[in-house]
Amino acid sequence: MKDENNMQKVALVTGAASGIGYEFTKLLVEDSYNIILIDKESDKLIEIKQSFENEYDSEIKIIAKDLSNPSSAKEIYDELTQQQIRIDILINNAGFGIFGKFTDTNWEEEYEMIQLHVVTSTLLVKLFLKGMVERKAGKILFVTSVAAFYPGPFMSIYNATKAYLQSFAEAIANELKGTGVTVTVLSPGLTKTGFQKTIGGKEPKINQSWASAVKVAQYGYKAMHSGRVIAIPGFLNYILANAGRFLTRNAATNIVGKLQKKNKG
Ligand SMILES: NC(=O)c1ccc[n+]([C@@H]2O[C@H](COP(=O)([O-])OP(=O)(O)OC[C@H]3O[C@@H](n4cnc5c(N)ncnc54)[C@H](OP(=O)(O)O)[C@@H]3O)[C@@H](O)[C@H]2O)c1
Repeated sequence: MKDENNMQKVALVTGAASGIGYEFTKLLVEDSYNIILIDKESDKLIEIKQSFENEYDSEIKIIAKDLSNPSSAKEIYDELTQQQIRIDILINNAGFGIFGKFTDTNWEEEYEMIQLHVVTSTLLVKLFLKGMVERKAGKILFVTSVAAFYPGPFMSIYNATKAYLQSFAEAIANELKGTGVTVTVLSPGLTKTGFQKTIGGKEPKINQSWASAVKVAQYGYKAMHSGRVIAIPGFLNYILANAGRFLTRNAATNIVGKLQKKNKG
């Protein structure tokens, strides 16, 4: 994909080695973007780079980094700036879950989650957005969750960090109107990926239909390209995300808590 100056466009994807993030990278190489793949494990990234480079013309750069490290966003920005790589699309996707009562859960993991979901995601936008606004072009996509719409007993930090991202993304989408830069928030429901292993490895007991990572990524990718702000894939998820408007906050939190306990407890 080339810009008006015939330069190849570049997309940066976090959590690119599996699940929804991997499916985004496939869509991007199919559309001839050059890509910066970021994830924790270098082995998986090397494998993906090799397989994409065998099949597509895109240039693939990999950065293996733990994004829960407070210095990670700045290190990525500095590395890319030094190499004069500018980012046209930023996909803030990396994330994981933690299940359990707040009295029982592990603070180190929760701290990592807050760093990853909140701090690194926000700082990446802070660092790359200026250039996008100067060029009057750019796209930012956040992957939140239907969990972003409710307080989540037994997943309290997860829901709270996703709620932060949802609110932050919608706010800057509004600020950026007319600048040429768009912000999209993709809020999936249950999706078949490696995510469930991060919340105790148990499959949810409630037999809500799973979405495929391919379908969720395709939905978000399309919404991002059309500049849509809120993107909730699937009718049931749309209803779930909006049902809270018809309940008191207390009632909604109670229902979410009961469902979580039944699902994973
Ligand atoms: N799957 C669902 O049901 C669901 C529903 C709603 C929202 N989401 C959201 O969708 C996004 C993508 O998740 P997914 O479902 O595709 O799960 P996934 O298959 O586990 O993919 C997440 C990727 O992010 C990486 N990652 C996690 N922590 C990281 C860190 N500190 N630094 C760098 N990379 C890190 C993971 O690496 P490792 O595997 O090495 O840890 C993994 O490759 C997440 O933000 C998640 O909250 C998922």
